[in-house]
Amino acid sequence: MSSTAPTSKDVLFYAVSLVGVAVAVILLSWFLAIMWYTIFMIHIALTIAVWVVYGILCIYCVYLAYRVIGYLRSKPVKDVSAIKHYVLPAIIILAAVITPFIVLKVPSWIEYDMAPHLSFTGDPARSMTLTWYSTTSYVGRATYGNITGPAVLPYAVQEPAATKEHVLTFEPLSPNTTYYYKIDGLSETWSFRTANETANMTRFVAISDIHSMYYPPMTPDIIASNPDFVLAVGDLTDYGASNADWNKYFELTKEIGTNYAVMTTIGNHDSMFFGDGNYLKYLTMPQASTGSEKYYHFKYNDVHFICLDLEWGIESYDAAQKAWFLSTLAGIRAVHPSDWIVVYDHCMHVSSGGFGNATGDLLKLYNTAGNVMAEFHQTFVDYGVNLVISGHDHHFEVSNWDGVVYAIVGTANTRLDSASATNNTCSVFYEPGHSGFAEISINGNTCTLSGHLYTAGGTLMAPFVYPFSK
Ligand SMILES: [Fe+2]
Ligand SMILES: [Fe+2]
Repeated sequence: MSSTAPTSKDVLFYAVSLVGVAVAVILLSWFLAIMWYTIFMIHIALTIAVWVVYGILCIYCVYLAYRVIGYLRSKPVKDVSAIKHYVLPAIIILAAVITPFIVLKVPSWIEYDMAPHLSFTGDPARSMTLTWYSTTSYVGRATYGNITGPAVLPYAVQEPAATKEHVLTFEPLSPNTTYYYKIDGLSETWSFRTANETANMTRFVAISDIHSMYYPPMTPDIIASNPDFVLAVGDLTDYGASNADWNKYFELTKEIGTNYAVMTTIGNHDSMFFGDGNYLKYLTMPQASTGSEKYYHFKYNDVHFICLDLEWGIESYDAAQKAWFLSTLAGIRAVHPSDWIVVYDHCMHVSSGGFGNATGDLLKLYNTAGNVMAEFHQTFVDYGVNLVISGHDHHFEVSNWDGVVYAIVGTANTRLDSASATNNTCSVFYEPGHSGFAEISINGNTCTLSGHLYTAGGTLMAPFVYPFSK
């Protein structure tokens, strides 16, 4: 096999091809990265088309490499001019393919000292867990007490070794008691209250889709509602791979997170581009029997809370999670046939919003709700799940289907969805375009779900109040 030197026509052809392919791949890579970041799966046909083109370019890249390797292996005397036309395009294409992933990974290399926050990892009447992250490694220590108020903190808890990922658990604590605590090296003293395990009243706040754009006017009203704890059901960050976004989340919710346990679930934005590693690093949640912290169960007074990992839809609902969920429901009902069960996860189930609706509209490109309903609704009915809280759609809505109440609370932000043209058929209350939060009060056999939403000027509107029984 012999090679001839390229003519000036060949050179012009390769040069034009090279520039064209390089520009196309760079633009396409960035478009793909941005689309994955913001609207991935919404316009699924467009996404598939982009992936196909992207795949073809990657295959072309492999072909170029194959030609180069083939040439190198077959020629005893190398004629560089015969392969140089393949080398440069290959390098540019590879760089273009890899660049978006590197750039999107960069934010995870910058570290922040993040605000502390509370969560339940054990019995809420007898323990409380405190978590924070520091840029330097040290042995975390905190003092706490309940006897004379914040001035005297007689007990201490300390980590066994230096770390950046600080987790301290205050225990054993007494039920229905206010405790004060202070982290060594910080000036602030915060407090929390343990559960009154004998009470049949549980009051909590549910927020969702903060997206690092938390709506600040909510904070005093959430605190004024005097909740036992807070549920934050996903999309805590806009981009979970970014440490800056996590830092923002903890700063924006610091006043709540340092005084109330905030129980979280992971949203699609939190897990984007390997962000789930950050979610697990920065938050401490109970562990399921499978070892996962993305889904778990805890009991507060006579109410069972089950967190599921549903991000875009059911794609994260694997066999292990499903087996765990069904056995958890069966275990609860075997011992507590009439206790309240609250399920919470990020992806909505029944919704009037743009991500899907209860009419099963097959023309929708991304009918998440249809898939999620098909997977879960009958199970909820069979096991007597009373309330399901989700976000993902950025609006406030309460629906009641077969006695299961579905709430969407994706309004803890300033990036709200516009009104949908079609309401789902079991919607009780649908309010797009307003930031706000839900307050849920369970007292005996009655649950009262209240929507606290704000006008564009930041004024609290008259609450939507929906009482229902189990
Ligand atoms: Fe969201
Ligand atoms: Fe979401």
